Amino acid sequence: MTTLIVTASHHGSTREIAERVAEVLQEQQQIETVVEDVKGAAAWLDSADSVIVAAPVYRTRLAKEASAFLDSRRAELSTRPLVLLVSGGAPSLSPRLHAALQAYGPREIGYVRGAVVEERLSGLEKLQLKLSGNENYGDFRDWAGLESWAKGLTGLRG
Ligand SMILES: Cc1cc2nc3c(=O)[nH]c(=O)nc-3n(C[C@H](O)[C@H](O)[C@H](O)COP(=O)(O)O)c2cc1C
Repeated sequence: MTTLIVTASHHGSTREIAERVAEVLQEQQQIETVVEDVKGAAAWLDSADSVIVAAPVYRTRLAKEASAFLDSRRAELSTRPLVLLVSGGAPSLSPRLHAALQAYGPREIGYVRGAVVEERLSGLEKLQLKLSGNENYGDFRDWAGLESWAKGLTGLRG
């Protein structure tokens, strides 16, 4: 049983989230995992029994590379369990984005707070962040909460 974890991380924090989930799945559920950036992920789809797409919210939407992957790979994703794991600066996932993500037919949609590190952002990104109403800087990742989410993930099997 192999789970492909696809990440679309602009500044690295969602990639680290995906890697932690992979560790938990391997250690606690004996599930083999491959963590792959969205750019190279399609090549791994054939060998994956299930897929997790871990991606951040940017400007109130899922990162566009992740949406593009979900849109362009609908056929392959429809034949295997799909879980979405979203990271964002806000305390919770907006109901609007949650509803939009349901359209991809995931078994589960998880949400974790990510990291918003000022030194990593360009001037334009800082402005966009301000306009999105999420101008709270810090590393908000709750590693214990993430691990318990991954331990309780039941939707990946058959
Ligand atoms: C330009 C910009 C826009 C963002 N817009 C949102 C948003 O609309 N909602 C939200 O919850 N978080 C927003 N965030 C926060 C990111 O989702 C958060 O920093 C995430 O952890 C980034 O993941 P990454 O490090 O993998 O790129 C935004 C961050 C940036 C830099």
